[in-house]
Amino acid sequence: MKITDFYSYRKPGRRISMITAYDYTLAALAGESDVDCVLVGDSLAMVMHGHGSTIAATADMMALHTAAVARAVKDKLIVGDMPFLSVRKGLGPAMEAVEKLARAGAQAVKIEGVEGHGEIISHIIKSDIPVMGHIGLTPQSVNKFGGYKAQGKDPASAERLVAQALELERLGCFALVLECVPEELAKRITGSLKIPVIGIGAGRFTDGQVLVLHDLLGLYGEPPPFVKKYLDGRRLVVAALNNFDKEVKNSVFPECKGKEYANSEKHGGLAEAQGRPALRR
Ligand code: KIV
Repeated sequence: MKITDFYSYRKPGRRISMITAYDYTLAALAGESDVDCVLVGDSLAMVMHGHGSTIAATADMMALHTAAVARAVKDKLIVGDMPFLSVRKGLGPAMEAVEKLARAGAQAVKIEGVEGHGEIISHIIKSDIPVMGHIGLTPQSVNKFGGYKAQGKDPASAERLVAQALELERLGCFALVLECVPEELAKRITGSLKIPVIGIGAGRFTDGQVLVLHDLLGLYGEPPPFVKKYLDGRRLVVAALNNFDKEVKNSVFPECKGKEYANSEKHGGLAEAQGRPALRR
């Protein structure tokens, strides 16, 4: 999927799928899959680095992970998240952060919120860097929200979200992420915009859905209730590790192939044939 496909995909019956990726190995699997679009989300601060929120993500951190993802994903749109406060320190620092992400391989950036940084969003778009908006439960505002709480539940905040969505479209965003708002509000916002709306915890009626990859694979903590686990990853990985542990302790692994391995140059050859880097041991 290219950025231009976003518009043509906004037709009845065609939904957009987006998934986060942060590292080379899982990004390569996302790249092999049918998923449309890859987001290097600032959720990496939590999922990859163990922080308690996305506030810990920095532009350098985002660029490092974006570069790893870009090495793996060749034919999909890669969107990089602008981290906490990166659009609130003025135009110069914002453009420096954008440049880091773009040079690392992001073809577009995602920015949370709009109030107070509409001009910066507009400047980024006029600099030919496509911008994906993000409103609703914007995790970088967790401290203002007093936790990870659904947004737009009362009429005033619902109207504010509609206005923000329209403003992001007016500024020239190519798409919008709408996070944790009531389904009816998400339906209304989706129906009010020409650009595609990608929902997360926002019900069935948006133009697409995004999930955190490690939530979908069941690898990271207890996911939010709207997540569907497509794999019981933690159980499977721990079971594999326990199997390895048992086989080592019972002298089942390795089967007497150690000598062959030590004398063989095959390993590097096999890795190369599979198109992945050879082990450096
Ligand atoms: O950082 C992230 O993973 C995100 C998605 C959940 C939308 O912003």
